[in-house]
Amino acid sequence: MNPKLLIDRRKGLIKQLKEKELVIVFAASVAEYPRNFLQDKNFKYLTGLDLPDAALVISKQKKPVIEIFIERGIPEMEVWVGKKMTKKEAAEVSGIVKVSYLDEFERKIGFYLNSCKKVYLNIGYNNIDRSLNKQQDFITKAKQHFSHITAMDMTKIMIPLRSVKTKWELEQMQKAIDVTGEGIKNIMKNAKIGMMEYELEAILQYEVTRNGLQHMGFKPIIAAGGNAATLHYEQNDSKIGKDEMVLLDVGAACNGYSADISRTFPVSGKFTKRQKEIYSEVLKINKIIIKMVKPGIGMKELNEKTVELIQKALIKLKLIKDKKDYRKYYMHSIGHHLGMDTHDLGKRDSVLEVGNVITIEPGIYIPEEKIGVRIEDDILITKTGYRNLSENIPKEIKDLER
Ligand code: GLY
Ligand code: MN
Ligand code: MN
Repeated sequence: MNPKLLIDRRKGLIKQLKEKELVIVFAASVAEYPRNFLQDKNFKYLTGLDLPDAALVISKQKKPVIEIFIERGIPEMEVWVGKKMTKKEAAEVSGIVKVSYLDEFERKIGFYLNSCKKVYLNIGYNNIDRSLNKQQDFITKAKQHFSHITAMDMTKIMIPLRSVKTKWELEQMQKAIDVTGEGIKNIMKNAKIGMMEYELEAILQYEVTRNGLQHMGFKPIIAAGGNAATLHYEQNDSKIGKDEMVLLDVGAACNGYSADISRTFPVSGKFTKRQKEIYSEVLKINKIIIKMVKPGIGMKELNEKTVELIQKALIKLKLIKDKKDYRKYYMHSIGHHLGMDTHDLGKRDSVLEVGNVITIEPGIYIPEEKIGVRIEDDILITKTGYRNLSENIPKEIKDLER
């Protein structure tokens, strides 16, 4: 990734700040074993660095100051864990000129806090029953020494940046979507009655890795028959029965950008009459809502139209008599922003603008019939309307049966 892109992102963030505001973004901590390390998304977005336990500081003064703090390498450890990134390397990747070691952080951060009023941090979402994360620990301590500061979560100032995708970001997302599509097509070709759901997961994993991507954006959902009625089913350990449909909700990640695609298909290669009825209704809604997507339309309007269509479909399928009862068979919303996080920054009720990428994912779930259908596409909002980034992944009945 060209550091110029990262410089532009930080400029964008600085534009959001008022004078005397400070941003401190902590990198994720090293996991139990380095293999499990997953970088904090805001830190990655602003620095491009996969370093654990680092910290980025952006101070909006008359002339903004940007400084990054990284771990100092310990020569005796190198034989075990390899070389740590040097200051020079961190500067080259991130485009940040001022690189310091973490052991200077506490002393230097005092100067920054002294001259600011408000500090934004990547606190993230939290529940009262969780132990405090390092951002909260930091705030507690900072407030004891600098009682004048107010601390805020930084999500609000990141939404305008991260929810509008640049050309480079769209390239990563398209690659993630295309590779996911290859995995889905291969699953459809190779799925057989009697296989375990995790065997289909293995086909996906193989295809993703073979195509040069190392990670999934989220744990794949491979749900046969009635398992598909559990929205976030992740066990993937059931045998696929005759006449069952399989719901795939999967997404590879490319350079940290996730795809999020759902397809539902009959394992036998042929829909039963009832399956076809239900599937056709979901597909119709998927297409109608996608066609509504354009700049200026709200997620709220898309959700309301979906509910109206789902209600009609459920009555037609003889699942409900009163439209008020639709929640029994459709429990989620039509979609969400997509990007570095599968459920990316962007409000659920946001008004769409050019460069947003959202999912459109209607579904009908009928546990008593052991059927769940969801069809999910990834949609870019363009000047003239939309582009379906996942349009090459089959969803028509005739294509699925073929
Ligand atoms: N894969 C989770 C979702 O579709 O929102
Ligand atoms: Mn999904
Ligand atoms: Mn989704």
